[in-house]
Amino acid sequence: MEIIRANHYDDMSKKACEQVVDQVRHSDKPVLGLATGSTPEGLYGQLIDQYHEGNVSFQHVTTCNLDEYVGLTADDPNSYRYYMNDKLFNHIDLPRENAFLPRGDAADPEQECRDYETLIQQAGQVDLQILGLGLNGHIGFNEPGTSFDSRTHVVALDESTREANARFFPTLDDVPKRAITMGIDTIMESKKMVLLVSGEKKAHAVNQLVNGEVTEAFPASVLKRHPNVVLIADEGARSHL
Ligand code: GLP
Repeated sequence: MEIIRANHYDDMSKKACEQVVDQVRHSDKPVLGLATGSTPEGLYGQLIDQYHEGNVSFQHVTTCNLDEYVGLTADDPNSYRYYMNDKLFNHIDLPRENAFLPRGDAADPEQECRDYETLIQQAGQVDLQILGLGLNGHIGFNEPGTSFDSRTHVVALDESTREANARFFPTLDDVPKRAITMGIDTIMESKKMVLLVSGEKKAHAVNQLVNGEVTEAFPASVLKRHPNVVLIADEGARSHL
């Protein structure tokens, strides 16, 4: 795993933006895997700036997001579809029909998982996957204990994850208890991964990732088995290394 040292959050976002722009400029039909949460917001802001400055176009890009809450509709402000529209898709020239997330309001979430797998295969595999890191080592919504062989599936969210994400919802009770997430094996099929981590509160998780063993108890550790992973971590996130 290559580690790119960023000074602070904005620098992390800028370095991540360079990776994405490079991928988009140099592929005919790039497929980007996208993530939500606070961490990639700066990256999305930088991509919008690059687009407005005429440095990049997304007309030939397809995106597949990692995950979505079960039960939330696309127009629910707490859904990840809404987040992606608001933070990125509404501001760039990505054809909306090329922007995929699992459908949180699908009548049959299990079927939705199978359909999403098919969709990713049809898109032609993810060229560059953006990842954030959960405090407990989760990637996407793959919580500790998830099989490394997992494909896109419905998960029961850890209480700690619901609490960590409660800041986006009116109350903790409003945080959904289930989500659809790309599985670990699905994520590992990406050709390249860029893992973004910022801030001291993630320093413990970064240390476990870099110096700990590969174990299903810490899902992100699987990334050490992938040949092309870049960890972009700012100073706070590296403070326990
Ligand atoms: C959430 C998301 C993940 C994200 C992670 C970290 O639960 N499902 O995809 O990477 O938690 O979020 P944040 O960047 O807000 O710390």
